[in-house]
Amino acid sequence: MNSYRRKAAILIAVVSVALALVAGSVAWLIVPGEGAVDGALMAALAAIACGLAIYPIVVHLNNENDRKSRDLLKSHIALLEAMGKAVAKRDSDTGDHNYRVTNIAMAIGEKLGLADKPMRALLSGALLHDVGKIGVPDRILLKPGRLDDQEMALMRSHVPQGEDIVDGIPSLADARDVIAYHHEKWDGTGYPRGLAGEDIPLSARIFAVADVFDALCSPRPYKDAMSFETAWGIIRDDAGSHFDPRVVEAFRPLARRLHRQHFGENGGRSREILERGIAKYFF
Ligand SMILES: [Fe+2]
Repeated sequence: MNSYRRKAAILIAVVSVALALVAGSVAWLIVPGEGAVDGALMAALAAIACGLAIYPIVVHLNNENDRKSRDLLKSHIALLEAMGKAVAKRDSDTGDHNYRVTNIAMAIGEKLGLADKPMRALLSGALLHDVGKIGVPDRILLKPGRLDDQEMALMRSHVPQGEDIVDGIPSLADARDVIAYHHEKWDGTGYPRGLAGEDIPLSARIFAVADVFDALCSPRPYKDAMSFETAWGIIRDDAGSHFDPRVVEAFRPLARRLHRQHFGENGGRSREILERGIAKYFF
């Protein structure tokens, strides 16, 4: 018996017994004497029988509500995924980048002991982190060479553009911290606000490590993928400047496994791993 059914059964039993007592007392008052005992007993049994009769109806209605809520949640998550993937596909081959960074951020969040609610915000934000790139022109997003200052400013505008997209949409509010702060740096040299240390939300500090590690380990038109040792060395050396040292420390024991999972010979299971994470934290 699940917890809802148990609660419904207890509630209905309590109400039935209360009704039985009231009905019995009323019967006793109306027909005092020996016949009243039978009347009170009949009234009490009737109340209990009513309770038993409505129990399956209450459970059925609840199951129906549960099913509708789950369908709605599934649609919401599919929308997050679709929006994130649409953006990722513009500047990578497959859109798998989004799945990988979300999985890496999830593993670090778990290591840091994040509760379910902040974990859901981290996952939503990771899936939508670069949604503002929808507003960055192809000539800049896909430029193989170095960006000049003006182009760089346009590229960096993906952060406020992402904030604009999710602002005012309550169902996307959870994702905002990662979208708005994932390019801030621990020492205050990031953008767009130049926040430092713990002024940067933890979800964004976690995501920054995942995002940079994935970028270092992935091939780009202008560079090869780095080896695990080189990529991990950069993350480790940037603890305290780019990254929150506590987040890098949490990532340390996970890094090799995550690299093997997402970039090794048996890589390509990012979607499957993400599905398990979504099932764990959203359902
Ligand atoms: Fe970004």
